[in-house]
Amino acid sequence: MATALMNPFRKDVPDWSAPELAYLELIRNRVQLPFHRSLPDYTPTPLREMPELAAELGLGAIFVKDEGPRFGLGAFKGLGASYAIFRQQQAFWLAVRGHLLDLDELRSQAMTREILVFTAATDGNHGRAVAWAVRNYGDAAVIFMPDDTAPSRIAAIEELGAEARLIAGTFDDCVTACDETARREGWQVIADTAYPGYMEVPGYIMTGYSTIFCEIDEQLGEKAPGDLDAVFLPAGVGGIAGAGTAHYVQTLGADRPKLVCVEPDRSACFLESIAAGEPVAAKGDQRSLMAGLNCGLPSLLAWPVIRDGMDLFLAMEDRWAEEAMRAAWREGITAGESGAAALAGLLALMKAPELADVRTASGFGSGSNILVVNTEGATDPENHQRIVRESENPG
Ligand SMILES: Cc1ncc(COP(=O)(O)O)c(C=O)c1O
Repeated sequence: MATALMNPFRKDVPDWSAPELAYLELIRNRVQLPFHRSLPDYTPTPLREMPELAAELGLGAIFVKDEGPRFGLGAFKGLGASYAIFRQQQAFWLAVRGHLLDLDELRSQAMTREILVFTAATDGNHGRAVAWAVRNYGDAAVIFMPDDTAPSRIAAIEELGAEARLIAGTFDDCVTACDETARREGWQVIADTAYPGYMEVPGYIMTGYSTIFCEIDEQLGEKAPGDLDAVFLPAGVGGIAGAGTAHYVQTLGADRPKLVCVEPDRSACFLESIAAGEPVAAKGDQRSLMAGLNCGLPSLLAWPVIRDGMDLFLAMEDRWAEEAMRAAWREGITAGESGAAALAGLLALMKAPELADVRTASGFGSGSNILVVNTEGATDPENHQRIVRESENPG
């Protein structure tokens, strides 16, 4: 059953002055943009439209920010890992040299020192992004993954020269294993989730993600971002949903579009935390098809932002993700299982009988412009083809 929860904590103008939320100033000032633009592989990802689905659902327009092509990595995650590792490299050399180095200087200096080891826990995409970003500096990466991760996702990490360590357990077990090993070995953890004692790097990662929303503002062209009626954002640990929320709250304040947080029902830590009024572990088994969203605990940096800025929380079954993958495919968009989550949330909101009241309350109709972020292409191509082909052979 799909579930929806209106956010009782939403504020027009939140107070985000707590010291740990200092990263929001980086997002406000778009500090990551010049860095991303300086990367040789950088090009804005496309903003597409789904006119057929918009007509079917009785909506004005559905815009899809398509992160599949990002840096050739299949998902948006390279934006966060590259910026966080750049800041780590800068910090290393600041301590040695006493001043900041730019990207080219960092790359050339890296060759003259001992190799650093960076490590991360992942269901696939974040680890692949870390492996890629680390390679830019000639350093090494060790990536911890649940042992039921799709083989294609493991191979994609190994192809980048990183070591993949498989852990019998969930994503959260991988976070623990990664943290413990890093302490023992003196490695640098690049985690996308913030927990007590580890708040800096996840802030840089969220800052990196905010490039997505800066690009969208420019791509909407004649339609100003204020003309969006709703933005659907998927949440695992809340990094991208938090970055999007921070962007719209800081640029549009009370006039922002409705912000909708979408999660699998098997791993709905934000919806359940909002219901509890504080961050809690998700009750589900964290075995959703939307693997990137199988995160049982909210990131402590994303939590206050999402709590104060979101309008609505949705959790839905995997079948909505499959339907979203097929709908995207019919209109020429490749959306992986996790990538399709935001669109799945829109489909569930507009179609699920149990959400009829929330649907009516949302007021979405033929004049509504909706934005969803497709966070991933076909990172498990075999499964993607199996799912989208079901529409071609309905019998
Ligand atoms: C494709 C994809 N979409 C969404 C997410 C969720 O992002 P976050 O954990 O920042 O909430 C992930 C996380 O790995 C992902 O890989």
